[in-house]
Amino acid sequence: MVTEKDLGQLVLTRHNKKIYSKDGIITKVFDSKFYQASDVLKEAMNQEYAVESSLPAPHVDSVFMVGKNWAISSDEIKGKTLAKMMEEDPANKKKYIDKLVQIQISILSHLSDNLKLPKLKDKLNNYITDSGLDATTRYDLHVRLEKMPNHYKFCHGDLTPQNIIFEGDKAYVLDWAHATRGNASADAAMTYLMFTLEGDDKGASMYLKDFCKKSDTRPEYVQSWISVVSATKLCTISDPKQRELLMRNINVVEY
Ligand SMILES: Nc1ncnc2c1ncn2[C@@H]1O[C@H](COP(=O)(O)OP(=O)(O)OP(=O)(O)O)[C@@H](O)[C@H]1O
Ligand SMILES: [Mg+2]
Repeated sequence: MVTEKDLGQLVLTRHNKKIYSKDGIITKVFDSKFYQASDVLKEAMNQEYAVESSLPAPHVDSVFMVGKNWAISSDEIKGKTLAKMMEEDPANKKKYIDKLVQIQISILSHLSDNLKLPKLKDKLNNYITDSGLDATTRYDLHVRLEKMPNHYKFCHGDLTPQNIIFEGDKAYVLDWAHATRGNASADAAMTYLMFTLEGDDKGASMYLKDFCKKSDTRPEYVQSWISVVSATKLCTISDPKQRELLMRNINVVEY
């Protein structure tokens, strides 16, 4: 039986997971109080499917149990996250956002109608159903979502500077748990929302401008996804200030 002692040095502790490093392998241990086996197996499956689709994700080495918790071990990427680079060198924020947008557009350029990836709209509809919002607001959001175009681009679903690591010049992307096939602007709306939830409005607007320019998209179109994407975050975010921001986004009336 593998124990946490076998996994090497503890490099990060979150309230619901722990990350260990040993001999070039990173092991992410998911607390069974928060994650079911199927959540962990799905994250590993998405990550390896990204590798098989020639996307820059670390290869999954194994999925196993550590006591009663499930764990994924992957190749360790030796480098800094884009978030850390931005924090250490704020004067060059624009340059780092440019890299994030390039990586995102390159992921989105992969098309997938493979059933291994859920449809983005199915996932969003599910989160709206579980959001805890009242029935009228939920209905309104389901209708808004239904009117949006169906695409089948490879969407990471949580592409933030924390989830990108540079090993030299080569960027790797982590955290594929939310990957879907769908509309690129929804993926961009999620990244934009994550900047604003971190309180980084300047970063958010720099990001939106850059994404829209590089992808030749109207900012209003990305913005039109914000209410739906914000509703999906109500299931997992408990911080009162962040929830207030999500509710403001949801209640914006669109004409
Ligand atoms: N394969 C890897 N190589 C190097 N570092 C990694 C690797 N996987 C994870 N890390 C480090 O651990 C941190 C957290 O990992 P990860 O993003 O996978 O989990 P998380 O952010 O807690 O997950 P979630 O966003 O699903 O809550 C990363 O920001 C990175 O610093
Ligand atoms: Mg992460």
